[in-house]
Amino acid sequence: MKIISAEFETSAAKPGQYPEAVLPEIAFAGRSNVGKSSLINTLLNRRHLVKTSSTPGKTRLINFFVINNAFYFVDLPGYGYARVSQKERKKWGPMVETYLRSRSTLRAVVLLQDIRRMPGTEEIQLIEFLEHLHLPVLVILTKADKFSKSKQAAQARQIRGHLKLKENETVLFSAKTRQGTDEIHEIIGGLLME
Ligand code: GTP
Ligand code: MG
Repeated sequence: MKIISAEFETSAAKPGQYPEAVLPEIAFAGRSNVGKSSLINTLLNRRHLVKTSSTPGKTRLINFFVINNAFYFVDLPGYGYARVSQKERKKWGPMVETYLRSRSTLRAVVLLQDIRRMPGTEEIQLIEFLEHLHLPVLVILTKADKFSKSKQAAQARQIRGHLKLKENETVLFSAKTRQGTDEIHEIIGGLLME
């Protein structure tokens, strides 16, 4: 996948605010601070297109980025951040659920999981919900640079067991070393063509 152009298009909280549904789309979901914005920036080879931050829970809306004028990447707000107000947390579920249910051009969801942690109920429920919607899911294990290669492989095996995933359904990734970037490009390219 060659990135010729990548631009922020809009932020949305509800369907009326989404861009017109004409281009295929890939959404990125995961716990707050897991590295969604960093992954998108790395895939697009733009260091600062998507704001990243050491303060978790900054992305509170659905952000649409148009790539090559051919498809969208969608940065979903992160869940599970305790310091976000109760009111904000309550909005997360319906906002993302409505998006996943209603977006006709959505081709697949990339779910990010920190390699250092075991998935929680949020990840398990999201995977079940995506299966119910017949949406393909790719699980990316982020911050792989925090572990040695052998520890990465062992941890990946455990996480796959926990989520009942096959080996080709997870990819190890690091925004720091760019490990996994080519593989993810290839997989997403394939999902967009389907
Ligand atoms: P929210 O938008 O708040 O939900 O977070 P996010 O999932 O978009 O995470 P973001 O990309 O902003 O990254 C959160 C923090 O993790 C930042 O301090 C990043 O520098 C760091 N980070 C992201 N990816 C990696 C990685 O691959 N390796 C390491 N070591 N740090 C990373
Ligand atoms: Mg973010």
